[in-house]
Amino acid sequence: MIDNMSIAIDGPAGAGKSTVARLLAEKLGLLYIDTGAMYRTLTLSVLREQLDLSDEDRITKLAGALNIKLSNQPLDNKVFLNGEDVTEAIRQPEVSRNVALIARMPAVRQIMVNIQQSLAEKGKVVMEGRDIGNKVLPGATYKFFLTASPEERAKRRYRELIEKGYEVSLNDLVRDITERDNTDRTRLTDPLIPAPDAIIIDSTNMSLVEVTNNIIKLIAAGNNGG
Ligand code: DC
Repeated sequence: MIDNMSIAIDGPAGAGKSTVARLLAEKLGLLYIDTGAMYRTLTLSVLREQLDLSDEDRITKLAGALNIKLSNQPLDNKVFLNGEDVTEAIRQPEVSRNVALIARMPAVRQIMVNIQQSLAEKGKVVMEGRDIGNKVLPGATYKFFLTASPEERAKRRYRELIEKGYEVSLNDLVRDITERDNTDRTRLTDPLIPAPDAIIIDSTNMSLVEVTNNIIKLIAAGNNGG
């Protein structure tokens, strides 16, 4: 196996990227970086500061000054904002509903991409997001694009949120996920599209452990889609 291998995992919300990326990090001894958590942390901060969600200048300034720390441990992914543990807070439905609006701002993305590239500088990472294979790590050793039907993805989110005690409706989640996908796919800067050399995996009828094992097999076989 390549010593400083980097793995890019992209795909829409609820496709299982986080679980798969965490399992890969654990099994292959890589650093796990959740880039969505960074956009979520900024969104939380914007909501707390009650900034106008269309005020790109102020949001960009906030992004530049934001002190985000990811714990990077596969089994203990905590996110800190100015030292405060916001791991749970960034998963609130209100953050989920607004994050795509912020993630489509080009200046914000540039700030985030710079941070992500410096986190991955030394290799040995599995990084998950939307633009990793195309923009953040175009030279990644392996690129995977996970998908699943919107209904299956909404069901997965539903189970997660209900477990955490949130009251949500499955129909609302299907609608939110579809809207967020549309915003992510149609934005002008770094839209959600598979990198040309990414291997596409549809996990609608697969468990995430199966997906992970498939990826490990592909890696062991040296199949990097290119
Ligand atoms: O993966 P997630 O649901 O936590 O991502 C939150 C939002 O951030 C989602 O709307 C997509 C966006 N995002 C992005 O635009 N680029 C990334 N690299 C990661 C996430």
